[in-house]
Amino acid sequence: MSSKELNVAIVGTGIFASQAHLPNIEKVEGLKPYSAFNRTKSKAEKFAELAKIDKSKVADSLEEIFQDENVDIVDALLPVQTNVEIVKMAIKHNKPLMFEKPIAANLKQAKEIVELSNSTKLPISILEQWSYFSVIDTLKNDILPKIGDVIAFTHNATGAFNEANKYASTAWRMNPEHIGGYLSDGGVHQLALLTGVLGEVDTISAQTKQVRKESGTVDTLFSTLKLQNGIIGNFTYTSALGATDKSTSLTIYGTNGSVVYDWSPSLPKPTITYQTGSSSQTASDKTVIEVNEVNAIQEEFKNFELAVSKNDKNLVGVKPATAFHHLAIIGAALDSAANNGDSIKVERV
Ligand SMILES: NC(=O)c1ccc[n+]([C@@H]2O[C@H](COP(=O)([O-])OP(=O)(O)OC[C@H]3O[C@@H](n4cnc5c(N)ncnc54)[C@H](OP(=O)(O)O)[C@@H]3O)[C@@H](O)[C@H]2O)c1
Repeated sequence: MSSKELNVAIVGTGIFASQAHLPNIEKVEGLKPYSAFNRTKSKAEKFAELAKIDKSKVADSLEEIFQDENVDIVDALLPVQTNVEIVKMAIKHNKPLMFEKPIAANLKQAKEIVELSNSTKLPISILEQWSYFSVIDTLKNDILPKIGDVIAFTHNATGAFNEANKYASTAWRMNPEHIGGYLSDGGVHQLALLTGVLGEVDTISAQTKQVRKESGTVDTLFSTLKLQNGIIGNFTYTSALGATDKSTSLTIYGTNGSVVYDWSPSLPKPTITYQTGSSSQTASDKTVIEVNEVNAIQEEFKNFELAVSKNDKNLVGVKPATAFHHLAIIGAALDSAANNGDSIKVERV
């Protein structure tokens, strides 16, 4: 617990700011919504009312937000192609910055952000809440040791196109500047979980398709990966299919058993199911564990509050280099698909 309440400036007061950041910032001890800016000012004013931010703290420009000496943290929720500029402003004004995933619209910008963050002592965090799911440590520390050496995995995230998706009508998603559109928008979440549990990706061979014109670009990815530690596997990601149950699961196969983590929305709670044994003859009964997941958005804010109050960038949970890796996997998948599924090495920083 810190002694001083940190003033948070919210920049980009769209859907996710109102519906996810605000209610969670309000619940995190040590953080307080303090000021707001939005390109369309009326939306920032509405947000300020909701957040009980003083009217005088609705800024006319980003500069005004960054110049306010009472702002302790800037929280940016903008179309991701603007992230580089925000990072530059944060460094110029020496303001700790947290901003939404994916790290950037493309790998060139993402690399620049990693380099900028390496050049400063400022805490800079990518808000990739999936990295804070408790199941990552549970699988890594408690379950994987029971199933022997990990051989392979299948990570499946498939779902039907949702015509009522509230995010779909945002202009920046309909005309995506970010690589792979929804594949990077939502795909980085899946990859944060996958790489958090199993490790970083070395190469990928992928095929993509554009199923929906509304996606603005390709929206369906099927791929085969090799991790740096030699584990092999499949990764699928799409929410553009015809009617089908939304299915999200990660199955991991080992020399002494296997585990399925299933967080499909049809389940009352996510479950971990594992069995041990080196063959079908020696297979144990299945053990099923219900997962009581944390509020990962609150966890990422708690993490940043700690990093800023201690003024220690090493405490940041998702540093730019980590988020770079998530986007670089999508980048390599897109390159592979453009080259008939050739195996492509994931760019590193
Ligand atoms: N972590 C998650 O699970 C999650 C979920 C959803 C979204 N997000 C992230 O949150 C961020 C915002 O997403 P959202 O769904 O809230 O989108 P949104 O409702 O469209 O909000 C984006 C905001 O940015 C402003 N904006 C648009 N283009 C701009 C530009 N060129 N320069 C400056 N401001 C601009 C918009 O202002 P106007 O009002 O003037 O258009 C709008 O208020 C994105 O980075 C997204 O990836 C994360």
